[in-house]
Amino acid sequence: MESYSIVTFGCQMNEHDSETIAGMMEQMGLRRAGSLDASDIIILNTCCVRGTAENKAFSFLGKLRRKKIENPRLIIGVCGCMTQQEGMADRIKKTFPYVDIVLGTHNIGSLPRMIEKAVAGGMTLSEIWPGSGAVDGKLPLKRKAGVRALVTIMYGCNNFCTYCIVPYVRGRERSRSPEDVIEEVAKAGGEGYKEVVLLGQNVNSYGKDLPTPVDFARLLEMLDKVDGIERIRYMTSHPRDFNDRLIDAIAASSKVCEHFHLPVQAGSNRILKRMNRGYEREDYIRLTEKIKASIPDATVTTDIMVGFPGEEDEDFNETMDLIRRVRFDSAYTFIYNNRTGTPASMMEGQIKEEVKKARIKTLIELQKRIGLEKNKGEVGRTQDILVEGVRESKPGLVYGRNRGNKIVVFRGDNDLFGQTIPVRIVDARLDHLIGEASR
Ligand code: SAH
Ligand code: SF4
Ligand code: F3S
Repeated sequence: MESYSIVTFGCQMNEHDSETIAGMMEQMGLRRAGSLDASDIIILNTCCVRGTAENKAFSFLGKLRRKKIENPRLIIGVCGCMTQQEGMADRIKKTFPYVDIVLGTHNIGSLPRMIEKAVAGGMTLSEIWPGSGAVDGKLPLKRKAGVRALVTIMYGCNNFCTYCIVPYVRGRERSRSPEDVIEEVAKAGGEGYKEVVLLGQNVNSYGKDLPTPVDFARLLEMLDKVDGIERIRYMTSHPRDFNDRLIDAIAASSKVCEHFHLPVQAGSNRILKRMNRGYEREDYIRLTEKIKASIPDATVTTDIMVGFPGEEDEDFNETMDLIRRVRFDSAYTFIYNNRTGTPASMMEGQIKEEVKKARIKTLIELQKRIGLEKNKGEVGRTQDILVEGVRESKPGLVYGRNRGNKIVVFRGDNDLFGQTIPVRIVDARLDHLIGEASR
């Protein structure tokens, strides 16, 4: 056994868990394989937030059947959110009997031990710990190369939005101590990372469960002083918990970027209530206005959903109206998807697929128009761009991000990597800006 591959679906939490899995593999003396075919171990890190994510995992596992026949010594492991669902481990074992290991989200630290057992042979091993799991910040980590380091500040979620499966598969909120977070951020800075992304399903409730309560604003203030790191981002914020103190802390800090990702989900109070989001459209609009008043360059992005059970044309129109009012820089748009075990899956008024599709199409058209207008509004400005890489399709072009999290492409070469340089924005597309380095 020499080499491993990790295939990751889902959000940045999963990306980051995969970095922990990579760390454990390296500690076992394995190295990353050049391809799936060259791997002795393949780990699939799954997501189940929507059916599409789950289908991807199933079809990937289906394709591994042939690889296992060609190489019976191949070890296949499945972990991540999907496996944590009730009955899923058995379903995987039954449908894909060649899978060796099924592991839940609360015990990825068990992976090395399970791999050793699987190599010794026998049947499929599965370990799914129920409940919330502990905070385990002490596992090894092999970060992805680049300018950006992901740092978990809290695990789990207590919000139970009625459509969402995350609280069931990631357990309750557990914060890491500020000392651990600061140490990890400082270490990432020492290793040459320029930017950290603080991860949590609801970073605004950071610290509430700690013995000495520290809030998220305070954590940002402390992290702002850590040397080496130039930029601090975080995801995700819950609009209900985004208070003035936090806006002030961000406005006062030099490193925390002026990008606000605030998932609104819907623009109708009736639907927001059914979703258990804990705010009304007016609260949300007021919040974004406050942010823009205190930080004029702030970008605001969102997650938004259509077709939630009971959504009438009127509700949808309110969502459209909210988009027009707030004018998001960009939005992740989703069709509501029924997740077994969530309250919304049992609600009356499930929306027909064709209605959902028509609504999302209308919504995306509007958001595209506004997003492009917002991007065009940046033309003429000079912005600090942290260079992340070269555009592979177009030699001579590099790309990076502005503080608002927009990708900016401009002429330059490799040695700009990791540098922050002033770039004048000269044109805009829907998904990136075009710039000219000012020096
Ligand atoms: N904790 C984060 C994000 C969690 S999942 C937050 O609260 O914002 C990312 C996004 O997926 C959500 O914001 C939501 O828009 C979407 N999502 C979650 N469950 C979904 C479902 N059942 N169907 C469609 N979209 C969903
Ligand atoms: Fe899901 Fe809501 Fe928690 Fe986000 S805040 S993870 S949408 S339950
Ligand atoms: Fe998916 Fe789990 Fe993230 S369900 S979105 S990978 S927390």
